[in-house]
Amino acid sequence: MTFREDGEAALDWADAYLARVRELPVLAQVKPGEVQARLPAAPPDEPEAFAAVLRDLDEILLPAMTHWQHPRFFAYFGNTGSEPGILAELLVATLNQVGILWRTAPASAELEVTVLDWLAQLLGLPSGWHGHIEDSASISTLAALCAAREAGGGRRTVVCSEHTHSSIDKAARILGLELRKIPVDDEFRMRADLLDLADACAVVATVGTTSTTSVDPVPAIADACARAGAWLHVDAAYAGAAWVCEESRWSQAGVERADSLVVNAHKWLLTPFDCSCLWSSRPEALRDAFSLVPEYLRTSDVDAFNISEFGPALGRRFRSLKLWAVLRCYGRSGLQHMIREHLRLAALFESWVRDDDAWELCAPRPFSVVCFRLKGDDERNERLLERVNATGEIFISHTRLHDRYVLRLALGNARTTEEDVRLAWDVLRREAAHR
Ligand SMILES: Cc1ncc(COP(=O)(O)O)c(C=O)c1O
Repeated sequence: MTFREDGEAALDWADAYLARVRELPVLAQVKPGEVQARLPAAPPDEPEAFAAVLRDLDEILLPAMTHWQHPRFFAYFGNTGSEPGILAELLVATLNQVGILWRTAPASAELEVTVLDWLAQLLGLPSGWHGHIEDSASISTLAALCAAREAGGGRRTVVCSEHTHSSIDKAARILGLELRKIPVDDEFRMRADLLDLADACAVVATVGTTSTTSVDPVPAIADACARAGAWLHVDAAYAGAAWVCEESRWSQAGVERADSLVVNAHKWLLTPFDCSCLWSSRPEALRDAFSLVPEYLRTSDVDAFNISEFGPALGRRFRSLKLWAVLRCYGRSGLQHMIREHLRLAALFESWVRDDDAWELCAPRPFSVVCFRLKGDDERNERLLERVNATGEIFISHTRLHDRYVLRLALGNARTTEEDVRLAWDVLRREAAHR
């Protein structure tokens, strides 16, 4: 088989998968260990055909997939690997750029900076911020907090809210920083009036927290940071995408005063995992924290910049190609259309819950995530979650709010239709009726 023949088979496979993914069970219906038990324990001695890989993908791996591309994936933060992004990934692997220095991947370096500037424009961010791509928000935040620590004059405390994502706990642990968590108000927003930043090198404010998508009061937090000389990092990993729509920019207030900001293109911006966008208004601080150029990497390229000097990794993937493809093939209007549709569908689902006496809403809904539960005890809701997910018809996740077990329905997949959301509501009510 030639590269082209295998390639056609792979593309046919991808096309057929996307066409039938809605018929597959969303949550993998396997037990731990089942996949490994079916895989050969040793690698092949002789070359195999690529067709054998595709066959085993179908027979062994596909039944053990949780389908993030499924239109009824409503757990965590749903996302979309869009067609332009998928094709760009193929080209990324074909080109196999390794961006250790500008010289080793000039197009990758320059496209990355340009595409992050495009995205900043689409989201209405201040002009002139320096943007680059990391693999995940976890690493973007780690990089930002590392810069904050270096710029912090010996202060070693990071402040965030009780609802901050666990990646901030992990970054503090890796960086040897203390973490102080501030209580939230009754809408799950950081209590800025309780901020005491005397020993703080950084505050992490979240726009779109993981449990409820609440929005911390960034203007008040920025004031406190300015008074204390602390770094302000804004985690808008999920909700930052909504800023492509002007009517969602109420949640951007104060973000223009951030020292750094993370928005994941792989969450709500149609880009296949992974692609996390990190901007900073103080790129020189990132550079101070990360620049390390040994002799063998020195070059005579005048005016060249090495993105590897702004973050933890030396070798960097050509991720900007897929974000570029997505931004070009959807345009501002295509992105806005998807975000608005998800907000509409989330409002619709929320209205069904509100109107049904057997159910209750558990948090305000700023974006596309609805927090709700069956009236009754935690056990009933836990059992319900297990039961609906076991059907394979939908996949939802949960959180804990005010010490109660709460269900979450999160919209983020571009293939989700109103019918899918209606089906989710039907499945939930049907399964709730079985006590
Ligand atoms: C608010 C927030 N920040 C950060 C993260 C971590 O994202 P990643 O998986 O890209 O590290 C998440 C993940 O859901 C999140 O919800």
